[in-house]
Amino acid sequence: MAAEEIGVGVVGAGWMGHLHARAYARVPHHVAGLARRPRLVAVADPVAAAVDDHRRRYGFARGVDSWEQLVADPEIEAVSCAAPNSRHREIGVAVAEAGKHLWIEKPVGLSSADTAAVAEAVHRSGVCATVGFNYRMVPAVARAKRVLDEGLLGTVTHARFRLLTDFAADPSGVLSWRFTAEHGGTGVLNDLAVHGVDLVRYLVGDLASVVADGERFVPRRPLAAAGSSQYVKGGDDSPTGEVENLDFVSVLGRTGAGAIVTLEASRVAVGDQNDYGFEIHGTRGLLSFDFRRPGELVVAAGDRYVDQSATTWASAPGDGDFALFQPGAGNPTSFDDSKVSECAAFLDGIARGRSGGATIDDALAAARVLDAVAQSIDKRGWVDLGA
Ligand SMILES: NC(=O)c1ccc[n+]([C@@H]2O[C@H](COP(=O)([O-])OP(=O)(O)OC[C@H]3O[C@@H](n4cnc5c(N)ncnc54)[C@H](O)[C@@H]3O)[C@@H](O)[C@H]2O)c1
Repeated sequence: MAAEEIGVGVVGAGWMGHLHARAYARVPHHVAGLARRPRLVAVADPVAAAVDDHRRRYGFARGVDSWEQLVADPEIEAVSCAAPNSRHREIGVAVAEAGKHLWIEKPVGLSSADTAAVAEAVHRSGVCATVGFNYRMVPAVARAKRVLDEGLLGTVTHARFRLLTDFAADPSGVLSWRFTAEHGGTGVLNDLAVHGVDLVRYLVGDLASVVADGERFVPRRPLAAAGSSQYVKGGDDSPTGEVENLDFVSVLGRTGAGAIVTLEASRVAVGDQNDYGFEIHGTRGLLSFDFRRPGELVVAAGDRYVDQSATTWASAPGDGDFALFQPGAGNPTSFDDSKVSECAAFLDGIARGRSGGATIDDALAAARVLDAVAQSIDKRGWVDLGA
């Protein structure tokens, strides 16, 4: 292998596996002077058709049916883990213990115990690890972070974060791994709320206490064939199985600095597709972001307090990685672009010997909040995080 290449492998050839493979392929198009160019060595998935599709589309040299083969492959120095949540712990630990760098999808396991095991292995072996919290890579979100750090909003007083979507709203959608406690864990908490918790931490600060409630609105779904995604539909007379985790969660929390935060996540919000965003209020202003308008950040800041008008800022070079994609303001970046940014941060981290983007410690902090949220729902009361 040429010295300027880095051999990579992808575990899990589903939705996120596609995004990781595409990001590795695209990153040299966007990042000039990349220290080492990714080479797609192998993809692992137990579903042969998914492996073949990946190989055909992206040109992986090899396709295998078990992640162990990929971890043992001497040509692979960096591994993406895009398998179901239940596999993150064993794969993440094995990758780190093999001395390979790890790009792993959120939520990094089913619980904070799983995330802690991966974090410990990463720290023990000294590899780099980047986690799939891609919403913080969106240029408008990076600009929001800068605005907050510069104090333009004054002191943050209260904020709302939302991740509302409809992928599970149709009861004929099959019982994919996401709906089982064994593979999906807490459901909407691990799927969507985890992104919200990461954004709360990134933009507003660590939560010190939470109280939450949640519900499963669709109790049964048609049984799924292996590897089926949540978008596959069952027939009217298909046998059904029980949904074992939550469809919706609503969280009220307080940060260590005293800001009050609400976070709502739903996978059954009919009529709402990827309605992900936030409104952050400070003593002197407001920031508002909607992922469906990814190139826009609404800002109200000034000296009027009352009747202060809001302005829409178009993302521009200087906002996070915007300049990797477009030379001038107003051309919005995409979901896939956020994964290219994540990939660039991962590879840059490897080149510098320090984890880039959201780290495994960020994943662990978010997982601890989600454990507290689940505990709060169970005991029907506030839970202190001791932050
Ligand atoms: N960052 C994001 O915005 C985002 C979005 C979606 C999913 N995710 C995360 O990505 C991960 C994968 O989700 P997805 O939507 O791609 O799921 P998916 O169901 O589309 O794909 C999962 C793939 O993993 C394969 N698989 C199952 N067991 C495996 C094993 N033991 N070894 C290797 N592969 C195995 C399945 O056959 C399937 O092809 C999850 O952890 C999920 O939470 C992140």
